[in-house]
Amino acid sequence: MKVDVLLGLQWGDEGKGKIVDVLTPNYDVISRFQGGPNAGHTLEFNNIKHVLHTIPSGIFRENKLNVIGNGVVLDPGTFKKEIDSIAKLGIDLTQNLYISKKAHLILPTHRLLDAASEAAKGKAKIGSTLKGIGPTYRDKTGRDGLRAGDIFSNFEQKYADRTAKHKDILEKQYGFEYAEALAEYEKEWFEGIELMKKFKIVDTEYLINDSMAEGKSVIAEGAQGTMLDIDFGSYPFVTSSNTICAGACTGLGVAPNRIGKVFGIFKAYCTRVGMGPFPTELEDEVGQQLRDAGHEYGSTTGRPRRCGWLDLVALKYSNMINGVTELIMMKTDVLDDFDTIKVCVAYKINGEVTTQFPDNLDQEIEPVYVELPGWKTDLTKITHQNEFPEELNSYINFLEEETKLPISIVSVGPNRAQTIIVEND
Ligand code: GDP
Ligand code: IMO
Ligand code: MG
Repeated sequence: MKVDVLLGLQWGDEGKGKIVDVLTPNYDVISRFQGGPNAGHTLEFNNIKHVLHTIPSGIFRENKLNVIGNGVVLDPGTFKKEIDSIAKLGIDLTQNLYISKKAHLILPTHRLLDAASEAAKGKAKIGSTLKGIGPTYRDKTGRDGLRAGDIFSNFEQKYADRTAKHKDILEKQYGFEYAEALAEYEKEWFEGIELMKKFKIVDTEYLINDSMAEGKSVIAEGAQGTMLDIDFGSYPFVTSSNTICAGACTGLGVAPNRIGKVFGIFKAYCTRVGMGPFPTELEDEVGQQLRDAGHEYGSTTGRPRRCGWLDLVALKYSNMINGVTELIMMKTDVLDDFDTIKVCVAYKINGEVTTQFPDNLDQEIEPVYVELPGWKTDLTKITHQNEFPEELNSYINFLEEETKLPISIVSVGPNRAQTIIVEND
């Protein structure tokens, strides 16, 4: 058996949570491999709408194993809130959610360091979600982090040592007032640590590899998107982990030759939340129309998302880096009312047209567009690909020809049911 990977090809919020939930019946194990509560993955089914931050999107299906892998950074406080809100729906996760001993913990002071660092950067800020992601990964690579497995021995001392260092930086480097916020975060954080002790904290690399050896199927759920990858994204306006397919290997302990399908998920247009370059951004009424139709406001922070047309230069780059084997197109219904739809096929930089994704996006980039006819049809009630309007078929064919990849799912609404599985011949 192999691990199939589902990951975002754009700047996050492509709809990963919805599709992992849709695909979960085909899998035995659902795992997260990177990121942390900066993620907000939305699921809608029956009359439930739920946003997950750290917990894999398989938890609403019965008899599945859900795994928080070693590459994830876990905030016990946020974790407790998530577990409590899921418990209200009558679901007890203590038996089917496993946490890696090696997953790093986001400390309350990491969150404060994130806030202090962003405030100090002023206009040059990243626009982080302020969940402490950057400082936690920095301590991980700096070999100074605390891991989930640490909570069982001499933990108070380890916590006090790390926190003392962080307080020193907050005071001396940033002159940051932290006492009140720290007291508040610490309360929920230590409650979260106690709750974590009820869960199975194990060597999840064995769990995943043993599961495969027993013939069980595994899906890895990405967070953020390729354009936010620490190496290949629009640095420095990125997150602090490898969001790409290779991140599933390091973030779960799975060998590269055990990766199976790679589902690349993208919106039929583009969004970005936070700062940083965005070549096809529309700061006009068309961008506003996309934001209104797509309800483009952050699932984690509520911030309005920046909107623009689909960018094939970036998408093809993401396909290459990730080894995508099939594409999933989301939020197709958001384009229902447009007379024409633009797709960026190249960039014009200093008068030169290129289809290569530049390393420096911080320069004047003029998108080169092709314009395709809109379908002007309500897609949200469609249940089969036979009902696709002709213009939507043309849009799909155009993208498949450009990317040389099949689009295997077309999503036409936020609900689990609004998902069209496409038969490709
Ligand atoms: P994720 O972070 O990749 O899981 O995506 P988010 O949950 O942050 O953002 C996707 C948003 O779009 C959520 O509010 C979803 O409920 C919604 N959504 C997902 N698929 C569709 C779709 O096909 N159409 C529409 N209109 N909304 C969708
Ligand atoms: P999901 O998994 C969209 C963005 C932030 C910011 C940058 C760095 O829901 O797709 P961080 O808090 O990671 O230090 O922020 O990355 N960002 C996301 N944007 N979706 C996400 O996750 C994101 N997680 C982080 O807005 O620009
Ligand atoms: Mg999201």
